[in-house]
Amino acid sequence: MSIDTKALVKKYGTPLYVYDFDYIENRYTTLKEAFAGKKSMINYAVKANSNLSVIAHLAKLGAGADCVSIGEVKRALDAGIDRYKIIFSGVGKRDDEIREALQKDILLLNLESEAEMKRVEMIAKELDKEARISIRVNPNIDPQTHPYISTGLHENKFGVEINMAKRMYIYANKSTHLNPVGIHFHIGSQLTKLDPIRESCMIVADLVRSLKAIKIDIKFFDVGGGIGVVYDKEKTIAPQAYAQAIFESIKGLDLTLLCEPGRYMVANAGAFLTRVLYEKVNDTKRFVIVDGAMNDLLRPSLYNAYHKIEAIGVEGECSEADVVGPVCESGDFLGKAVSLPPLEHNDLLVVHSAGAYGFTMASNYNTRPKSAEVALQGGEDRLIRQRESYEDQVRLEMDYLRP
Ligand code: LLP
Repeated sequence: MSIDTKALVKKYGTPLYVYDFDYIENRYTTLKEAFAGKKSMINYAVKANSNLSVIAHLAKLGAGADCVSIGEVKRALDAGIDRYKIIFSGVGKRDDEIREALQKDILLLNLESEAEMKRVEMIAKELDKEARISIRVNPNIDPQTHPYISTGLHENKFGVEINMAKRMYIYANKSTHLNPVGIHFHIGSQLTKLDPIRESCMIVADLVRSLKAIKIDIKFFDVGGGIGVVYDKEKTIAPQAYAQAIFESIKGLDLTLLCEPGRYMVANAGAFLTRVLYEKVNDTKRFVIVDGAMNDLLRPSLYNAYHKIEAIGVEGECSEADVVGPVCESGDFLGKAVSLPPLEHNDLLVVHSAGAYGFTMASNYNTRPKSAEVALQGGEDRLIRQRESYEDQVRLEMDYLRP
């Protein structure tokens, strides 16, 4: 992404999230083209970046949404995604969330346990509705990614085993208030190997075939999200190869393919801009202290994730430094051993690949306001979320303050 960082920062301040909407469009189109000629829907995983304008941009391109809370469902609807393109997943849906999702008549609820299925059936009965559902199958495949974002093994909390899924489909098929229309799996995030995806597709497609044999006809084959992106030098999965592996596994079956990419759509569309406050050197280390922190971008602290960091318009001999924020935690860093030139107060750093799981995982820790967010589109920039103020942060507490 080529951006006039200085102009943006002058206009909007720091720390700042910036997203290239043209890049997002390009990613959407590339993936959609890989599925050309087949029935498919891209359900953008809202959790990756849930800014309303980001979702609205994808909505205009024709995307659906994958949501994991009723809040995300509402965001998707507010952003203009059609209700019949919204799916609602998650291991722990509350009754009120289930009720509202059924009332909003979204495409389907993706179920992750037998207990949840019974709950959905009960609530659908109360509402005198038939709930369209899919079941998340755990194919017990090692996705070969970071353990925190690996989800397709039996040791993870997600989905149900094949045999249990089959029993659930048989039950749901008999129920007047459940309509089993889909099947789902998601083995992990930041996947860079195709084999685990191919293997999972085969296992789940076999289950679809065995259900078909007992007259349970599944319509939607949802392969989850997880396509990895380049943060550093990763070799990633080509959309064409991804599509081909999926379609091979479902050969002979009349299915609509659903997939739920989040990171693929937005990670490399985004940058996080932060300003240098101070430099500090002790006998062992150089620290660059910036105004962005772990509360703004948690990935480095939480997963030891790598984000490329560059200084803007500064020359000089580089040396290694830890880029750290003002938060009172030793784990508050954006980068370790980053090669940087000598820096001064107000110099700017760009933290790359910050469009996914950046702002959405931000918090107000240390009573730090959430950053502003800006969209770049067709050579223009526009604010898509105001910087939070102190007043925004205390609004829900002020009325309860005792004299
Ligand atoms: N579908 C399901 C059921 C998921 O659980 C997820 C992500 C996705 C789709 C989207 O996955 P993606 O295409 O973005 O890889 N906070 C972590 C990532 C957590 C992913 C959780 N589930 C990170 O910053 O790396």
